[in-house]
Amino acid sequence: MITEEMLENLIPLNDFPEYDICDLSAIHDRYSFIDNHGIFGLPCKEFFEYIVSNYGDYKTVYDIGCGCGYLSYGLKKTNPDLNVIAVDNFESSYRYKHLNEFRLWHPIIDNVDFKSIKNSLVITNWCDYGSDLAYKIAKYLHKSNRMIYIGESEGGCTASDKLFDNFAVNEIPAPWFSWKFIYDQVFEVDLKRINIK
Ligand SMILES: C[S@@+](CC[C@H](N)C(=O)[O-])C[C@H]1O[C@@H](n2cnc3c(N)ncnc32)[C@H](O)[C@@H]1O
Repeated sequence: MITEEMLENLIPLNDFPEYDICDLSAIHDRYSFIDNHGIFGLPCKEFFEYIVSNYGDYKTVYDIGCGCGYLSYGLKKTNPDLNVIAVDNFESSYRYKHLNEFRLWHPIIDNVDFKSIKNSLVITNWCDYGSDLAYKIAKYLHKSNRMIYIGESEGGCTASDKLFDNFAVNEIPAPWFSWKFIYDQVFEVDLKRINIK
């Protein structure tokens, strides 16, 4: 079981639960974890280290659609000098109707004008199923930024296909824990390659 103390200390990839090939308890464990902590896409310690060392030119990181702000917490813990801005309007996710049940890991603002963001790293982790959030971020973001999208690939259970239809979305080798039967990967969205299909 993943405890709050493990989350606080950031979890090395090897410490995440492993399941046998057809072990359906993985599904129960994932929903139970989300119900207890309100965290969907779950970053590991090595993910934070990868971002800090590979995107070190960017002093400001936006975590858009941050939920409880755990990704922001981990980035700030890994590099306290980073300016981390966590954003969520809590409008679209039914699980957050009872927000007071969850620990908020980082201060959260409810809105940001995507067009105003410059020279920053922008991360969106686990957009809701069918959501245009990742697409809209990519569409409006200034080209001086870089954008990371975390979730399933085209046709998967995060983000709408508009993102993949309009931008080159390239997998990057950032370590990531994916619950069994979920196929999360880390991608960089190429903001310059628009309308590729
Ligand atoms: C499935 S949750 C994922 C939350 C978090 N990233 C995680 O992995 O735990 C998607 C979040 O995106 C937020 N969201 C959707 N559209 C948004 C928007 N336009 N601005 C800010 N947040 C948004 C929702 O409120 C929800 O909290």
